[in-house]
Amino acid sequence: MEQAQRLQRIPPYPFREIAALKAKMIAEGKEPIDFGIGDPDMPTPQFVIDALCEAANDPETHPYDESGFGTDRYKDAIAEFAKRRFGITVDPSGEIQSTIGGKEALVHTVWAYIDPSDVVLVPDPAYSVYKVQTSWCGGAAFPMPLRAENDFLPDFDAIPQAVRKQAKMLFLNYPNNPTGGVAPLEFFEEAVAFARKYEMVIVQDAAYAEVYYDAADRPHSILEIAGAKDVAIEIHSLSKTFNMTGWRVGWAWGGGDHVEALSRAKSNVDSGTFMAIQRAAAVGLENYDAFAPQMQAEYLRRRDALIAGLQSLGCPIEAPRAAFYVWVPVPEGYTSEGFATKLLGDCQVLAIPGAVYGAAGEGFVRMSLTIKGADKLAQIDQAISNMRDGGVAW
Ligand SMILES: Cc1ncc(COP(=O)(O)O)c(C=O)c1O
Repeated sequence: MEQAQRLQRIPPYPFREIAALKAKMIAEGKEPIDFGIGDPDMPTPQFVIDALCEAANDPETHPYDESGFGTDRYKDAIAEFAKRRFGITVDPSGEIQSTIGGKEALVHTVWAYIDPSDVVLVPDPAYSVYKVQTSWCGGAAFPMPLRAENDFLPDFDAIPQAVRKQAKMLFLNYPNNPTGGVAPLEFFEEAVAFARKYEMVIVQDAAYAEVYYDAADRPHSILEIAGAKDVAIEIHSLSKTFNMTGWRVGWAWGGGDHVEALSRAKSNVDSGTFMAIQRAAAVGLENYDAFAPQMQAEYLRRRDALIAGLQSLGCPIEAPRAAFYVWVPVPEGYTSEGFATKLLGDCQVLAIPGAVYGAAGEGFVRMSLTIKGADKLAQIDQAISNMRDGGVAW
């Protein structure tokens, strides 16, 4: 049976060679040091697990969440968090939508807005969902390169006038996967003005908003910009903040029209998040201030160890200011795929070729600080030592 065209339009999995090499190494008993997938290795905090257990024992959490937008308890916790963390006001009735993680919200926001031949401005490199979902809706993704010399921010001036006029949606992702870039408030201000002028909706993916290293770099919400709700929806997730990737819980907030559009799309596909998970997520957010510093301190230790190690090999790299990714320029003479293959084959170090995230990712590999197994710093040291022994130098 022929598969749908939308499925055929997805490019083949670009990580195939590396994945095959990793499988071969494991079969030979050589476990690589894995800086690949960005999935927190630390457990969900116990207070969230306890809250889930208690909530799951309450039969009131067992039916469908008929509210459609999320339980009052969860939305109130989100609105409180908005005030405490970002100093913004969001109305729990109409400006917040509970979601099944960030990914679901991204998908359904695209479905809510994009028709065939609509243009969507998509960062390059980027999380693949923006482009794939644009394609599934028949839209055209226009890449906005994120370059080191521009602090991994898109250059709106470089977008041709005709494209600006056609564009209906603008994807932003700060803190950024895979570059670790952060968006200063002035950039969000510029983005809101740009979206207003050319009449597009901004989808700001804030999945990594709580993974940062220095109070001075504490990420902003785009809703901090006056009038942002007219043009923006921002998507948050508990996945990375509370080590809850498997739980599938997050939220979207923004202008009522945008939240309503997402809600209408998603309510025709899924039936919301298990209410016990929403209750546990509320408890998580209520205890954010006590928990987040521990999570941030752990990634800081790992980041500093990896950056120092890479610098000791001559790598011209600065420490990322947010997200748990290190975006490493490859030494001269390598493609990103070639360098990732060398790292895995000669150094038993698994990193992801930057080109996987888009054409502008060529020339980099991504190393995630979410490292499985015991003694993370020892593994980082081992990786650097393997790289030195394997002849890696910049
Ligand atoms: C940039 C970005 N956005 C969104 C997500 C989705 O995360 P989740 O659906 O677990 O919230 C990810 C996951 O890796 C991501 O990297």
